[in-house]
Parts: sequence; structure tokens; C-alpha cells
Amino acid sequence: MFLCEKPQLISIVIETLSKISNIYIILLRCSKINIQRFAAMKNSIKVAVVGATGMVGRTMLKVLEERNFPISMLLPVASERSVGSTVRFNEADVNVVSMEEAIAQKPDLALFSAGGDTSLQWAPKFAEVGCTVIDNSSAWRMHADKKLIVPEVNGAAIGASDLIIANPNCSTIQLVMTLKPLHDAFGAKRVIVSTYQSVSGTGKEAIDQMEMERKGVDGKMVYPYPIDRNCLPQCDVFTDNDYTKEEMKLTNETCKILGDKSVHVVATAVRVPVTGGHSESVNVEFEKAFEVDEVKRLLANFPGIRVQDQPELKMYPMPLYAAGKDEVFVGRIRRDFTRENTLNMWIVSDNLRKGAATNAVQIAEYLLANGRW
Ligand SMILES: NC(=O)c1ccc[n+]([C@@H]2O[C@H](COP(=O)([O-])OP(=O)(O)OC[C@H]3O[C@@H](n4cnc5c(N)ncnc54)[C@H](OP(=O)(O)O)[C@@H]3O)[C@@H](O)[C@H]2O)c1
Repeated sequence: MFLCEKPQLISIVIETLSKISNIYIILLRCSKINIQRFAAMKNSIKVAVVGATGMVGRTMLKVLEERNFPISMLLPVASERSVGSTVRFNEADVNVVSMEEAIAQKPDLALFSAGGDTSLQWAPKFAEVGCTVIDNSSAWRMHADKKLIVPEVNGAAIGASDLIIANPNCSTIQLVMTLKPLHDAFGAKRVIVSTYQSVSGTGKEAIDQMEMERKGVDGKMVYPYPIDRNCLPQCDVFTDNDYTKEEMKLTNETCKILGDKSVHVVATAVRVPVTGGHSESVNVEFEKAFEVDEVKRLLANFPGIRVQDQPELKMYPMPLYAAGKDEVFVGRIRRDFTRENTLNMWIVSDNLRKGAATNAVQIAEYLLANGRW
């Protein structure tokens, strides 16, 4: 009755309540913005992402965002053809700038993923203005005076004067993460690794090739043969010894990261029609005897490793489920019954995340935690 008699009063009450709730929402939003600003101000630094429009670069932006890396200014850099376009970061469109524009801003940190030649040419120019460069290409990895870092394995090797720091090859990172705890315990003598590497490991043009093939449309060929419904026993180019560059990266980078030239690694690297996530079948011969349960325990306790090994439940790592995750997944852990002190295992990780972007951001986090900025 009252409601019917006082319609005007009711509408005033509703309007007032709605205004109050709108003001409350605005205040709530402002307080969130302020909190973000405050967080961004504490130790926050200028960050350039070189190759920001590529597969790794875009993943770097995502990882920086997810991990709330303290950034006061983001400088996305790509080739001249992308300058003026935008990338998304923290729900905003940020303009892509040129190398020169980025250097002029004197960034504190540059995450590079724009190929080896670009790194060779530009990383020293960023370092000249005092910028720390973390480089994803192969340009600096085997330089005697450059550190090759997986933070969980050898983060402590970084010194105060290291301005260009190399990020290892994607297939090497997941291998050394797994080898480290086992090498420390039992001494790895010989490692035989066969890789099953995803197409995203070659970059965005390779994804385009596979998608065109799947649609039955002619397009640019990045690989020498079709990749869909195929396996290519060639990742990167061949070297003088008939191994590919990718295979030799596994051999050389593993020893450098473990700091032990006596570990003999021999690889066969194969490209498979999987979109994201590299897999590796690994056979390791150790100096010392081991128990498989102890191997599983050591792996499970190592930071960044997830053991997925329950054959009775058909549980083992697969790229379909590793894609988008930061961990290195290990399963099919079993003794090689044909050889003494020898183990077989199956390792899977997302090549764009722990194999590239996440590892690079973790190096930056390590530097931040150790007072670099
Ligand atoms: N994909 C992986 O899983 C992986 C893993 C570890 C390491 N890496 C390494 O990371 C690097 C990038 O790989 P990706 O897969 O992200 O390749 P991608 O998808 O082809 O992207 C390449 C990026 O580099 C930029 N770029 C190319 N030439 C440039 C130049 N002259 N100056 C400035 N920027 C330039 C491109 O810009 P535009 O868009 O303007 O062309 C793009 O942003 C390579 O060195 C690769 O070996 C890749």
C-alpha cells in the first residue's frame, strides 16, 4: 500500500542508494589503482622487451604481468615494421618503439628475444647505457666471459659486473633442471637425449606454416619439408660434424651450466607437429649406483620440477598439459636394465615459458632480489 502511494519517494531512495554504491565502486577502483601504483613504485625499474611482438616476447609480457614484476616503464621493441603498432600489457595498449628510442630511455633491464644477429648488434649498445641484458638467442651463450643461467641450477654464478646474461636454449633448460639434482647425487657420466620439439620453438612463422598446411593452403615454408603429419629429424642447421646446431647446443650448454665438462651429452633433435611444449627421452649413465625411489625423491624436491609418474594410472607428462605452465614435468622414470647405473626418463616443458620467457624473468627476479636495482 505504502509502496503504491509513494512512488516518487521510492525512486528517490533507489537513486540515492545507486549513487552511493557507484561512489563506493569508484572509491574501490581508485584504491586498487593506488595499491598498484604503490607496488610499482617500490624498486620499480624501466624494462625493455626486445622482440615484444614475437612468440617469446609476447610470453615475456604475459609472465612479467602474471608475476607482477615491478615495472615503472615498459618499452616494447620490435623490428622497424612493427614500430608504431601496440602490444597489450596490464590491460593497456603500449606502443612498440625502435631500438634507438628504447636505448634513449636508458632502461635498467632489457629482455631480448629477437634472434642472434639482433642480439650481437644491439645488446652491447643497451649494456653501454648501464642496462642489464638477458638474452634468449644463442648469440652469447658460449662466450667465455658470459654467464649462461638457469636460476635454480647456477643463479649464484652471476656476478655484479655481468651486464649481458645468456638464457639457455629451450631444450637445454628442461634437461639441466632434471640433471642437476641427479648429477649432484650420483655423477652423470653420459647422457643420450632424443627430443620431440614443438613448432612454437621455431617462432611465429613456423606456426603459420603448420596452420596453412592444416588448412590445405600454400604458404611460406620455414621448414624444408611439411611439418604437419610429419617428424623432421633436423632442428636448426647442420654443423660440420653432421649434428645440427640444436643438438650441439644440448651438448655444449649442458656442460657449461653444470660447470662440468666431463658430462658427455649426445643428442638427436626432432621437430614434431605439436604447437607448444618440448618433450625429451633421456638416458643417463651415472658414476654411482642409485635407487629409483631416491631419484624420484630428489627430482620431486627440486624447485621447479613436478614428477608425474604413475604408470598404473597412465600418468606421465605430455606437451598438451605442460603448455602454459612454468614447471618441468618428469615421468617414465625407470632403470635401464641393459646397463649398470643407468636411468631412463621422459621430460616435458613449455618451451616458450620455462624454456625461454619464464627463465629470463626468473633471472631478472634473482637480480632484483640480490640488489641489482
Ligand atoms: N620460440 C622458442 O621456443 C624459443 C625458445 C628459446 C629461445 N628462443 C629464441 O628467442 C628468439 C625469438 O624467438 P621467437 O620464437 O619469439 O621468434 P619470432 O616469433 O619470430 O619473433 C621474433 C621477434 O623478433 C623481432 N625482430 C626480428 N628482427 C628484428 C630486428 N632487426 N630488430 C628488432 N626486432 C626484431 C620480431 O619483430 P617483428 O614482429 O617486427 O618482426 C619479433 O618480435 C630467437 O633468438 C630464438 O632462438 C626461442
